[in-house]
Amino acid sequence: MKQRILSGIQPSGVLHIGNYLGALKQWVELQETYDALFCIVDLHAITVKQDPKELRAKIRELAKLYIACGIGPKKSTIFVQSHVPAHTELGWILNTITKISELERMTQFKDKAGKNRAHVNAGLLCYPTLMAADILLYQTDLVPVGEDQTQHLELTRTLAKRFNTQFGEVFRIPEGYFPKAGARIMALDDPTVKMSKSGAPANYLALLDDEKTIRKKVARAVTDSGSEIKAAHDKPAMTNLLTITHLLSGESIADIEHRYRGKGYRELKQDLADRVVDFLAPIQQRTRNISDNEIETLLQEGAKRAREIASQTLTDVQRVLGLG
Ligand code: TYM
Repeated sequence: MKQRILSGIQPSGVLHIGNYLGALKQWVELQETYDALFCIVDLHAITVKQDPKELRAKIRELAKLYIACGIGPKKSTIFVQSHVPAHTELGWILNTITKISELERMTQFKDKAGKNRAHVNAGLLCYPTLMAADILLYQTDLVPVGEDQTQHLELTRTLAKRFNTQFGEVFRIPEGYFPKAGARIMALDDPTVKMSKSGAPANYLALLDDEKTIRKKVARAVTDSGSEIKAAHDKPAMTNLLTITHLLSGESIADIEHRYRGKGYRELKQDLADRVVDFLAPIQQRTRNISDNEIETLLQEGAKRAREIASQTLTDVQRVLGLG
């Protein structure tokens, strides 16, 4: 039996190069050896207000991007979270063994909720229990994600262990899988914060940005003081641009630094823009070539398989709880 991986991305904002390098790139590699499930987490996306028409379009677009980036529809199962009701049911059940303090401690909640807690929707607080349900329903071994999901994953493990201790061994305890480089790609306009889907356009390189936009954004990316092209703690901007170059080219950071010795930021940026454009062009082409009908069929098949696996776990959960 193959071990299983599961991961997901929210269909909100735009998919950016950070999502690709931090998560998708690993998914493409891992699907070769694992039983792989990739989810489009639309129920997570609605914790922030969404336009229904736009959300529907974004779900399909994200499914196309998964495939265009290299997720094989025959190798992996791609599905939409809301097509599998077991996610919300297990999410609710996990809420009942989760402390409010555990949820309030989550960095992502604190960032999103800000200071004015009175007006924050409860879904934002319970976001991590739904994520835990996504993972635990499939008896997942490995969860390939970027660094910003570390805390959510730790909570998932805590809840799984707590449930197993209280009610009996139902859940497999998942491990996180983080890339050695690229687990935290930083914003182009501020290399001290992570590249973010909900950031201003200058913050990210979207997978669907056109060539002109990419060139403009890379050219305007913030640089460090000094002129040396080197990855170092006091050079967050260079470290970020070199990391992206390294991950797109496969060339080691030391070799890239060597190649640019005596050269300026402008040259590095121009080469990086070329590289990003060349990398994204085929992805964008493939995204355009996939029809809505193909995606509909694929998502229906994906949901069918996901429901089968999820319902087995949910039945066990209901049984040990005295439900159903
Ligand atoms: P989301 O949609 O914010 O991001 C999707 C994936 O991209 C990674 N990521 C990054 N990696 C490197 N650098 C960055 N700047 C960067 N920004 C985002 C994220 O770590 C993530 O892997 N809660 C999750 C979605 C989710 C999920 C799950 C993931 C819901 N259920 C179950 C795994 C398993 C999220 O909001 O990701």
